[in-house]
Order: sequence, then C-alpha cells, then structure tokens
Amino acid sequence: MFFRKGIIALTGLFLCLFLIVHLSANCILLLPEETARGLYNSYSTTLRESPLIKIVAYVLYLSIIFHVVYAFLITLKNRRAKPHRYLVSNSKENSSWTSQNMGLLGIMVLLFIVVHLANFWVRIRLGLGEEVSIDSAGYTDVYEVTYSLFQNIYYVVFYTLLMIPLGLHLNHGLKSAFKTLGFYHKKGLRIIAKASLVYAVIMSIGFGIIPAIVYFK
Ligand code: HEM
Repeated sequence: MFFRKGIIALTGLFLCLFLIVHLSANCILLLPEETARGLYNSYSTTLRESPLIKIVAYVLYLSIIFHVVYAFLITLKNRRAKPHRYLVSNSKENSSWTSQNMGLLGIMVLLFIVVHLANFWVRIRLGLGEEVSIDSAGYTDVYEVTYSLFQNIYYVVFYTLLMIPLGLHLNHGLKSAFKTLGFYHKKGLRIIAKASLVYAVIMSIGFGIIPAIVYFK
C-alpha cells in the first residue's frame, strides 16, 4: 500500500513541477503578438528537439500513466475495503469533500488532459489531423494552433471550467503527497497546506484565464 501511495505522491509532485513550467511558458501567449509568436514557437520547438528535454517528456508521460494507474488501483482497493462507506461513515466530520472525491476529480482532470493532448500534442507531435503551419522563422506555428483553438468559445469554456477540479485536485494532492512521503511536522504541515492552496489557486486561475484572454484579445 505504501509503495503505491509513494508512487502516486512522487509522480504527483513531478507533475506539479511540470505545471509550473507549463504555465510560465503559456504566459508568453499574453504578450503582444509580435513578441509572443516567435518566442512561443521557438520555445516549443526547443522543447521538442532537445534530447535532454525529450527524456524529461518521456518521464512526464510515464508519470501521468503511473499516477493514474496506481490512483485507480488504490481507489478500487479502498472501495472494496469499505463497500458501505456512505452508510457507516462519519468521515465528513474529519475529512473534506475534496479528499473523499479525489478519484472523481482525478477523472475530470484526466478527461481534460485527453482532450488537451488531442488538441495540441496529437497535431503538433504526431502530425495527425489538420496540418500545422510554419511561421516566418521556420518554426512549427504552435502559437497559431493555440490562438485558433481559443477562438472557439466551447473550448474556452471547457478549458476554464475544468480548471476548477484541477485546482481542487492539486490543493489536496500536494498536501497529501508530503504527508505520504513522511512529512509529519505539525507546523510544517500547516505551512504546506497554505502553500498548496496558493499553488492550486495560481495554477487554476492562471490556466483558466489564458484561454479567455486569448479569446477576447
Ligand atoms: C491555458 C492552458 C494551456 C495551454 C494553452 C496549453 C498549451 C499546450 C501546448 C501548446 C502543448 C504542446 C507543446 C508541444 O508539443 O510543442 C501542450 C502540451 C501539454 N500540456 Fe498543455 N496547455 C495548457 C494547460 C495544460 C494543463 C492545465 C495541463 C495539465 C493538467 C496540461 C498538460 C499538458 C501536457 C501533459 C502536455 C504534453 C507535454 C509534452 O509533450 O511535452 N496543459 N500544452
């Protein structure tokens, strides 16, 4: 059990780090177009072509897979162990709605990631679907892919709304990861809880607001 929880915690922390880098990169989209297009396209080309970052990308894909698979196994095991949890549980008093619904929130985040990868990764990395243009500097025009996607209000609403379960999942997940990895210091945990909240709010508002800004720009 600890092994599984440890894997979820470690992969989760790695995914949290990825999100910081990913949000920072996506903030480029908010700069004026003359600067943003070149910067965004050259940045994403560097990510795709650098051998070291390619390794990090594979670690990222494996982390997502392991995180999902082990979380699924643990949820299944807990459900089998407590089949009547809603009848006998008084856990509302000592655990939040979020902590009891991490599985559901995780499924919503996974749904987001699947749609998101289909929007970008499948087109840009696998070259499937509508062809991606090349900008004046010769880079794949990822900026154009992003801007054209967020001209569609349904995608803007989808991306923005799904950042609510992402934020809730991150807030609880980050705190739990530290506890799982053996961090029990009471005052330290209070600080971690606050830091997790700040992190989750920045991530969900940051990722949620970018599509809307792009839409109205
Ligand atoms: C404003 C919101 C977002 C935008 C504009 C955005 C944009 C992008 C783009 C353009 C790519 C393709 C990069 C490339 O292959 O060159 C990408 C990949 C990816 N995004 Fe996002 N993203 C957003 C939010 C998110 C969120 C919230 C998550 C996770 C919960 C996420 C997870 C990923 C993952 C896992 C990849 C694949 C990374 C890789 O292959 O290197 N993204 N995103």
